[in-house]
Amino acid sequence: MSGSVKDRFLVTGCARLQGAVKVSGAKNSVLKLMAAALLAEGTTTLTNCPEILDVPLMQRVLEGLGCTVVIEGGVVRITTPAELKSDADFDAVRQFRASVCVLGPLTARCGRAVVALPGGDAIGNRPLDMHQSGLERLGATTRISHGAVVAEVETLRGARISLDFPSVGATENILTAAVLAEGRTVLDNAAREPEIADLCEMLNSMGARIDGAGTSTITIDGVEKLEPTEHEVMGDRIVAGTWAYAAAMTRGDITVGGISPRHLHLALEKLKVAGADVETYENGFRVRMNRRPTAVDYQTLPFPGFPTDLQPMAIGISSIADGMSVITENVFESRFRFVDEMQRLGAHATVDGHHVVLHGIEQLSSTDVWSSDIRAGAGLVLAALVAEGVTTVHDVHHIDRGYPNFVENLQALGATIERVAE
Ligand code: UD1
Repeated sequence: MSGSVKDRFLVTGCARLQGAVKVSGAKNSVLKLMAAALLAEGTTTLTNCPEILDVPLMQRVLEGLGCTVVIEGGVVRITTPAELKSDADFDAVRQFRASVCVLGPLTARCGRAVVALPGGDAIGNRPLDMHQSGLERLGATTRISHGAVVAEVETLRGARISLDFPSVGATENILTAAVLAEGRTVLDNAAREPEIADLCEMLNSMGARIDGAGTSTITIDGVEKLEPTEHEVMGDRIVAGTWAYAAAMTRGDITVGGISPRHLHLALEKLKVAGADVETYENGFRVRMNRRPTAVDYQTLPFPGFPTDLQPMAIGISSIADGMSVITENVFESRFRFVDEMQRLGAHATVDGHHVVLHGIEQLSSTDVWSSDIRAGAGLVLAALVAEGVTTVHDVHHIDRGYPNFVENLQALGATIERVAE
């Protein structure tokens, strides 16, 4: 988790990664679980938490609301008071997108929430309309005021809600409000991401009554009160997927533990089509590759589709594949900024609307590149591993937000990579 905003990585190309790596808890789960701890007075304990920058950022948000948060390695203990503050700290919230997940719990606990419009990755316009309309269906009024979303309600009441798109964040905020609403909420076209199921499992262990998590229709019977709990954060499927693509791109052999391969089914299937040998186990998988990958097309879609967070890795492998690939981004509009950096590394890529067409070449060539978000940053490091020469990856603070011990893990797998201060 160490490192400053100015750090960069020097990555030596033509590596072959080999060995075993274990992923820790999912970034996209732990932050929501930390926010869910707001729902119960007392101490909630989360284990298997990743050591990434977003966890202390969320600690700051929760402390600003009146909680005490202790982080000890992979364990986070959150003590929530009877009376919470309803205004989330403006500066802390603006630093990362996931902070918006305090909106549902605060509305449920305080009848009022003020949460600054979040910052975060530069991957496109990320409105909150479905978060707002979901809370409104439960009886709240919402508005945007002075750069913050404000929700207010006397009594939350269960309702039938249909999302226009299975938004992960909107599903989470609706769930964490509905658990304490009067009566039954039925949420249609809900997100089916494994992180939603993880959140529901924790909420149910706190005393919530949620049915259908992991499917498109989730039913929530509101309860009066929730109790604190202890919960193990699910493994990070995006970090695991990053290692899988690293193995295939470097013609390596990596065994990844701490993750259910069911959470990465399509991403691993695509690697098989590209020519990799993939073995799956109960709690992990192994990817081996001994030749140049074959070109494969990708379309990002909500789970169980190909994850948008692995789109940079799909572009990376396609850039060195034998043949032409078309990668279609269906979730975030501006996620192709990464392609400019890949072109600097020599990739033959053309962007056309929400498609990028890649003609694979034998080898990329090193230069200076800049990370624009967490996944693009990790994608650039993978590309640098297969580029001839030493590539400098700048703005690696983005990577630190999502990949625990990234450099150490890569070194253990045989990569030559070092972190240097700017
Ligand atoms: C979460 C993940 C992110 C992942 C994404 C999709 C976290 C912290 N981040 O982001 O890593 O890439 O899911 O799997 O968990 N949208 C609206 N209105 C809304 C809400 C969303 O138009 O009210 C749009 C977004 O702009 C985007 C799409 O819906 O185009 C999907 O967004 P969503 O599923 O909400 O993603 P996040 O929860 O922000």
